[in-house]
Amino acid sequence: MSDKNNKIPFNEDNYTHNINRNNERKLDRRGFMKTLVGAAGVFAISSLPWGAIAAKELTGLSDKKYPKHKITDVNSIGIGEAVDFAFPSEHDSAILIRLSENKYVAYQNACTHLRCPVFWEKASGEMLCPCHHGKFDVKTGEPIAGPPRRPLPEIHVKVENGAVYAVGVKRYEA
Ligand code: FES
Repeated sequence: MSDKNNKIPFNEDNYTHNINRNNERKLDRRGFMKTLVGAAGVFAISSLPWGAIAAKELTGLSDKKYPKHKITDVNSIGIGEAVDFAFPSEHDSAILIRLSENKYVAYQNACTHLRCPVFWEKASGEMLCPCHHGKFDVKTGEPIAGPPRRPLPEIHVKVENGAVYAVGVKRYEA
C-alpha cells in the first residue's frame, strides 16, 4: 500500500491554501444579506400587483369583463315568474325575475346572511330566505327583514333577440 494516499505531496496541491478565511466569511455574510434583500425585493415586486388587483376587486373599481350568458327566452318566463340560473360561474347560483313586460331583475341568490338559497315567492311578490326568515326587496336586492345586512349582488341583464342575457355583476363599494 502506498503511503502517498491521504497525503498532499506538494503545497500547491492543497486546495485550501489560497483561502483567506476572514475575507471569505465576510463575503459569505455579504452574499447572504444580498440574497435576503433580493428575496425581499422579489417578494415585494411579485406581491404588489396582486395586492393592487385584489384591492381593486374589493373596492369595486375593477372594470371586470363577464361572459355574456343566455338565461332564458323571453317566451319561457311569464310576468311575475322566476328562473334559476348560474352566473358568472356555474357555482354562482342566481335568480331572474320578470317584474313586468319589459322589466327584469336578477340577483345572485346566496343569502348574504349565511348563504341559504333565496327564492322568489310569486304569491306574495317577495324574495325570501327560508333559513332565518330573511327578506329582500325584489327591485333593489336590499335586505328588508331578518338577519341579512347586505344586499344580494345584482346581475345586469339585457334583452336581445327574444332572449334574456346576464352580462355583468354590479360591484359594491367595500
Ligand atoms: S341564511 Fe338567509 S336569513 Fe340566514
